[in-house]
Amino acid sequence: MAPPVVDRLQGKRYRAAGPVPFGYDLVVDDEGLKWYEPDQEALGKLREAIEFIRSGQHSLRVTSEWLEQQTGRKLSGQGLSRLSWSKEEKAQRKKVRYKGLTKEQKRLADLKVVQRNAEIRAKKANTRIQKLQEKVSNNLPDSVVEDQDDQVTSDATEGADVIFKPNPGPQTDFLASTEREVFYGGARGGGKTYSLLIAPLRFVGFSTSRALLLRRSMPELRDIIFQTQQIYPKVVPGAKFKGQENTWHFPNGARIEFGYCENLQDALRYQGQSYSWIGVDELPQYNTPDIWNFLRSSLRSADTRIPLHLRATGNPGNVGSKWVKELFIEPAMPNTRFAEKVEYSVAGKSFSTEITRKFIPASVWDNPYLTQDEGYVAMLASLPEVKRQQFLYGNWDAVDDGAFPDFSREDHVVEPFDIPSGWTKLRGADYGYSSPSAVLWGAVDYDGVLWIYRELYAQGMTGSDLGRRIIEEEWEDGTINRASLDSSTWAKRGTRGPSIAEDINAQGCRFTPSDRSPGSRVSGKVQIHKRLKVNEETGEPMIRIFDTCTQLIRQLTSLPVDKNNPEDVDTKAEDHAYDALRYMLDLRPINVMTAYDKIPKKRWVPSDARFGY
Ligand SMILES: Nc1ncnc2c1ncn2[C@@H]1O[C@H](COP(=O)(O)OP(=O)(O)OP(=O)(O)O)[C@@H](O)[C@H]1O
Ligand SMILES: [Mg+2]
Repeated sequence: MAPPVVDRLQGKRYRAAGPVPFGYDLVVDDEGLKWYEPDQEALGKLREAIEFIRSGQHSLRVTSEWLEQQTGRKLSGQGLSRLSWSKEEKAQRKKVRYKGLTKEQKRLADLKVVQRNAEIRAKKANTRIQKLQEKVSNNLPDSVVEDQDDQVTSDATEGADVIFKPNPGPQTDFLASTEREVFYGGARGGGKTYSLLIAPLRFVGFSTSRALLLRRSMPELRDIIFQTQQIYPKVVPGAKFKGQENTWHFPNGARIEFGYCENLQDALRYQGQSYSWIGVDELPQYNTPDIWNFLRSSLRSADTRIPLHLRATGNPGNVGSKWVKELFIEPAMPNTRFAEKVEYSVAGKSFSTEITRKFIPASVWDNPYLTQDEGYVAMLASLPEVKRQQFLYGNWDAVDDGAFPDFSREDHVVEPFDIPSGWTKLRGADYGYSSPSAVLWGAVDYDGVLWIYRELYAQGMTGSDLGRRIIEEEWEDGTINRASLDSSTWAKRGTRGPSIAEDINAQGCRFTPSDRSPGSRVSGKVQIHKRLKVNEETGEPMIRIFDTCTQLIRQLTSLPVDKNNPEDVDTKAEDHAYDALRYMLDLRPINVMTAYDKIPKKRWVPSDARFGY
């Protein structure tokens, strides 16, 4: 029985890209290239685990626990399932599982999946509660603050020679990170700037180490140079700061230079220089990625022992937050390494290399030096909503003129899973030929929560092309119960005469036209807000989106409101996935006036007939 992921089980080496796969270690070879090196013992255990799954000996959960116990490495049940079965085998197994079952039995099987998912969610909520409770107790009550005060001072003075100790969590992760480009950003006061001063010290043991730390303006620069004067000479006795060059010289020859950089013109001063470490404080203050891209060309070193690091920090809500978010935050989950392939040519030869990146989110609660000061957190908490989201919670999705400030990745985005076959399936679509067509698929669970599980976003398709693609995409989905398509496509002509909607439907899609009544745009947007709202008791919203639906997530986080009509989104922005969602929600509106609302309210009676209320 050949397991599907044969390569992985044969333990080939891979050039490092993305998160480290199970059973591999990250190694750096003599040329400084990074590889994933197989750990044969762990892969042997993985092989055994796959046998357990394929032979039906143990469940995914039990096997995943066993594997962790055997190897000390973690692989989720979902990951294990992905390695054990090919896509075709999975579909086949699902068919077999339901074969011969009555309708009730199928529903029972589905409900069990729902129950298991709910259990997993409850477990996650529990960990979140614990974390939040820790944050709350780190912060508010006086007695706790006092305790913490003691702890901070005693920690800092413990053994007189401790000069600097990273705060546990993101600050430590940032200082230990190995990716080429790392962005540490989020809430105010998390200790970001401070860690940028400390990071280059990691390499001053190498005499060839050259570091450059940039801020936007000279006064800001002076502020951090002052801070380094308190730290550097203690860390490396003999280190001297030369004011004219704005550079620290270390006795072995290593250097850390400080510079300001207001615009690209300033950055050009560093053209032709070589640095093995470059850091930029407040990167989102730059409105384009030009400076960042330019600095990349100054990141080089003849000494292969020193890894090349480009580091940056910053807060959301700045002029450049959008591009920073696209570069670092959107491509992968936080704290996860990802890689971008870059191709370039030198002297007629083409090369391809990979830039590894990581985003580390910062939170004010990570910095005990500030949370001792109740007033600081209280000040952040009292800011207007969007600023509070940005500065207190480090929320990159909150934008000043954003149409959906209530959307948050944490609450609304989930990892994909198999949709139980008993859930009601819906499809919503917006058609475009030169602008993109967007199609979304959603499933409603037994609590009425809508799970958007797939999206299609493509340009240049005729009606029939789109119809065929839709049928191909959903061939494994079972019945799509209802589907809604932009009603204007019933009026638009296709190439051969019939309307585009007819062309699409001719492929077997069975769309009905979306609501076109006056006010439908606004009520559609309200429906999205209603679904996004997190229920205070259950902590659950009424819509969740698989993280594979990247266009929809991008649009919900970036669509601005219409300046002339704050009840609607700005239709000039790219809104096709958003429209498709609106059309889908037409099919399942929530919280609209129902018969219950018409039941007369109970007459209010005083508790005491004479004068009591
Ligand atoms: N590990 C640490 N040891 C000692 N002091 C620290 C440490 N981390 C942070 N601090 C102190 O916490 C304060 C706030 O840190 P910092 O200025 O680096 O935050 P920030 O995240 O850059 O804030 P902002 O978002 O406002 O720029 C500073 O006074 C700094 O000295
Ligand atoms: Mg700072």
